[in-house]
Amino acid sequence: MKLKNQVAIITGSSSGIGKSVAQCMAAEGAKVIINYPFEKTAPDAQAVLDSITQAGGEGSMFQCDVSQEDQVIAMFEHTKKLYGTVDILVNNAGIQVDSAFETMSLKQWNAVIDVNLTGQFLCAREAIKEFLSRGVVSDTSCAAGKIICMSSVHQVIPWAGHANYASSKGGIDMLMQTIAQEFAGRKVRVNSICPGAIQTPINKDAWSTKEALDELLTLIPYKRIGQPEDIGKAAVWLASDDSDYVNGASLFVDGGMTLFPGFRTNG
Ligand code: NAI
Ligand code: BGC
Repeated sequence: MKLKNQVAIITGSSSGIGKSVAQCMAAEGAKVIINYPFEKTAPDAQAVLDSITQAGGEGSMFQCDVSQEDQVIAMFEHTKKLYGTVDILVNNAGIQVDSAFETMSLKQWNAVIDVNLTGQFLCAREAIKEFLSRGVVSDTSCAAGKIICMSSVHQVIPWAGHANYASSKGGIDMLMQTIAQEFAGRKVRVNSICPGAIQTPINKDAWSTKEALDELLTLIPYKRIGQPEDIGKAAVWLASDDSDYVNGASLFVDGGMTLFPGFRTNG
């Protein structure tokens, strides 16, 4: 029970990676807030909560669009009222709105930046305020609070046709490092996870046919697509005191996707 008595908000946790992070953290004793953005995603969030309570864990749901300041503030207020504080933030919510660059509209650009980058800023700011006002509670964790930013291999791998998405992930890297630097002295830890290709709804086109999956596997030296639990387990480690000396780091969980696989036999 590495996260016993800790309260974790996991944004965008009604599906995919966020769902697994919520389940893995609840299994380690955290009380989890399952955040979902819209009414139509409520049944999925309810199913995640049910799976957690059936396994003996504790959690609650909260609807909030992370790109909306008032809704983010309300989510943190609600969590503090319900559970007393927030110990862990997993900034996971993210979207892709893909387009060739020359036809990318401002709307498509803003949609991705608003959720993936501004959403992480708003949630991190509210978490930091709570961590600073509470400080370290020694029988809970060595740190006053932990933030995990869900970035991507695309914080370092350029991605044609996805300029908005890759830019948001590059931005997350600098946001993460800057707040890690700014608050390390107040015992706050901020790190990123950079997943490679994980089998979730966001990239269904890349794995739902044999041809697509075969093509994807040419980019993954470890020769399997990642599963949400690969990220859930990494998130538990980064949130726990087992990683207490890790701060400002990007943990790539990508089966080697960032190893330039095209250079294995050539170059
Ligand atoms: P997903 O589509 O299952 O999850 C994204 C979640 O974000 C959904 O639950 C969705 O409802 C939520 N969301 C969307 N807009 C929101 C908003 N405005 N406010 C709150 N929540 C919102 O896909 P996946 O893969 O689980 O994505 C999770 C994170 O992991 C994203 O940040 C994504 O960029 C990142 N990622 C995913 C990879 C993959 O291969 N699946 C690889 C690298 C990073
Ligand atoms: C994207 C996925 C993609 C993966 C590897 C993620 O950031 O959201 O669509 O499969 O990176 O390229």
